[in-house]
Amino acid sequence: MGKIQKINDVIFRLSLGNPSNPINVVDTTNLESVKCKYDFRIVENGDLFSVVSNGEEIAKEIGFSLESGKTSVTIMFPNAHFFGFGEKMGFMDKRGTRMRMINTDNPLHTPGLDPMYISIPFFITVSPGKPAIGFYLNSTAFSFFDMDGDVYTFGAQDNGIEFYVIYGPTVTDVVKHFTSMIGRMPMPPAWAIGYQQSRWSYATADQALSIARKMREDAIPCDVIYLDIDYMDGYKVFTWGSGFANPKSFINKLKIMGFKVVAIVDPGVKRENGYSVYETGKKIEAFCKSKDGEEFVGYVWPGQCVFPDFLRTDVREWWAQQHKALFDVGIDGIWNDMNEPSIVWTDKNTEEIKALLNENEVSLSLLDKMKEFLVQGDYRNEIIHIDDHNKKWSHLKVRNVYALLESMATTKAFEIYKPGRRLFTLSRSGFAGIQKYSAIWTGDNSSWWEHLEGEMPILMGLSLSGVSFVGTDIGGFGGNATPELLIRWTEMGTFLPFFRNHTAIGTVSQEPWAFGRDVEEIIKKYIKLRYELFPYMYTCFYNAHETGIPIMRPLLMYDQDDLDLYSVNDEFMVGDSILVAPVVRPNTVWRSVYFPKGRWIDIRNSQKYEGRHAYKIAAPLDEIPIFVRENSVIFRTDSMNYLFERENLTLYADFYGQKAIGRVYEDDGESFEYNEGKYNLYEISVESNHDGYFVNFKVLRRGYVGRYKKVVLSFEGWTDINLPAVKVNDKPMKSYFVEGIPRIDFDLKEMM
Ligand code: GLC
Repeated sequence: MGKIQKINDVIFRLSLGNPSNPINVVDTTNLESVKCKYDFRIVENGDLFSVVSNGEEIAKEIGFSLESGKTSVTIMFPNAHFFGFGEKMGFMDKRGTRMRMINTDNPLHTPGLDPMYISIPFFITVSPGKPAIGFYLNSTAFSFFDMDGDVYTFGAQDNGIEFYVIYGPTVTDVVKHFTSMIGRMPMPPAWAIGYQQSRWSYATADQALSIARKMREDAIPCDVIYLDIDYMDGYKVFTWGSGFANPKSFINKLKIMGFKVVAIVDPGVKRENGYSVYETGKKIEAFCKSKDGEEFVGYVWPGQCVFPDFLRTDVREWWAQQHKALFDVGIDGIWNDMNEPSIVWTDKNTEEIKALLNENEVSLSLLDKMKEFLVQGDYRNEIIHIDDHNKKWSHLKVRNVYALLESMATTKAFEIYKPGRRLFTLSRSGFAGIQKYSAIWTGDNSSWWEHLEGEMPILMGLSLSGVSFVGTDIGGFGGNATPELLIRWTEMGTFLPFFRNHTAIGTVSQEPWAFGRDVEEIIKKYIKLRYELFPYMYTCFYNAHETGIPIMRPLLMYDQDDLDLYSVNDEFMVGDSILVAPVVRPNTVWRSVYFPKGRWIDIRNSQKYEGRHAYKIAAPLDEIPIFVRENSVIFRTDSMNYLFERENLTLYADFYGQKAIGRVYEDDGESFEYNEGKYNLYEISVESNHDGYFVNFKVLRRGYVGRYKKVVLSFEGWTDINLPAVKVNDKPMKSYFVEGIPRIDFDLKEMM
């Protein structure tokens, strides 16, 4: 039973029956060549299979079960722990949990909530002393994962199953190999890495402009202002409402101040005669059908809506063209929301909802009803999709890729209206491979301390599942932020790949200044730090683009043999060198920090900590504990109001340790010319002995004119009283002290 196919040294495909997907996100035709030094094989024993590495059975008794319309696989992996699964509530290690995957707008993120907006049927099995193995279930259908323990089962509602077994041996290797099959993120525009300000809604042009002006007046760096649903005319997508009478001039005013503007787009199109999006869509039969062959109608913000059938190429083209209304007036990025798609009710239950509305004022039953509908709505069985070959697909097979298909259409829109420019799309829903088209955020969290803490494992699960450009609503979406919560959330947000403050309608303001001067000063300090760290962060994005290795990483990636790291859910790494330990409790000015093996340096005071130990670390309200791995280099630049406000920048390289090495990447931040080699990659290393410091500056690539003109090297944690002798590429340099830390500087062109 079952077929095995070897894809390359590290990837096998196993299948049974006749699985079918409306689209295949896996592409194994162009895999990078990998030579695995471990002998990795899938071995057949009768009806069962095992995963063997260097003669040892790692996962065994792999067996299939095929019931009508439901196929599953059972695997035995002693002492297994499970990571990944895309966007999931709860702690990272899913041993002992059961999960379902069907994209769902489940608005209140309570601890046991499952499923969520995004489905990525992928996980990594890890156990100390064993190679990590990835499993990707290649099914867009409703799927389930019962990770009971040593023996676990997963499967899908389909007439067959296909899954990939992906060898490590490290967790990092698994992620690299997995993303080589499903794709990696392109380089984002540089501005998308800056701080972004949003709320539901800046409802008029004046309101949005006043937010932007305040940012500049108070010198809080900020790159992006968001427009939520109220910019539209009656929530009709691709229209402008009366609050934005002259969108072009409004956006132009923001541009002059150095802002980019991102506008929300919902897939629900108002069913209204005379509305051109509806009319032109109807002409090509762009909208999803009900089983009875009529247009499927559901209710979202504008009332009665129809939903584009993104499965069809011509529908995606048509949708892309609609973006003209946004791009022509200068919109820079697109925020794809409600794209599970979220449908609040349909004609069928309108009466029921209305009755409940009249029943009583508290109406918990109404909320329950609406939630039940959002989560399990019978519309899911009702919608039909039709593909390019006129084949019908049930919504249950398409739903998980609906947002992915929409994001492909958005990508097309950028290609048409902004040729040669990098795109920025933010999506709430998604599927495996969404990183090729879009950044994602974790949707409607709340201004709760529990959510500040709970976002870290969700984001790391996504990161391990191939999605690198991830973030949360800073300050929390639902409910009211408090000053302390906003400070702590911004401190953490500084280190997340996507850094946007956003909140719901009816909640208190949570812009940086909302709680007075003192709070603003702390928030500003961190936003500025984000801009200073741009060279480091941008290099992390470049690595994610090149290798698929995420920007935000769980600590277990640094020592998968240390079981204690498997349960560290409230610390994370940014890239290879920075460990962040946010404070996630009110009235708390310390926390316990556990370090992976090696040595770690507190950047505030150069205090050193030994790995595989926990320490009590001080964290007053205006400080988030940040540690640098010994022997690494942190690259910084000058803080700016927005990227790249200035052209001539200084590149700071801070060496932590006596022997350090690091790389820094730069490109124009806006075009695709990096694909033709128009980028710079520098490697700086230092070795020291009693004669002094020997720095090696290597230009690995010089393909772009570059913004960094001057280089300043600092030797952190250097304790000798005398100034050290420093040579760069064998040339003696003059060193000096700044705040007790030895430095040297030189013009970059001296190194060319
Ligand atoms: C959804 C989004 C939220 C947005 C709101 C209004 O709840 O998740 O971010 O503000 O819709 O558009």
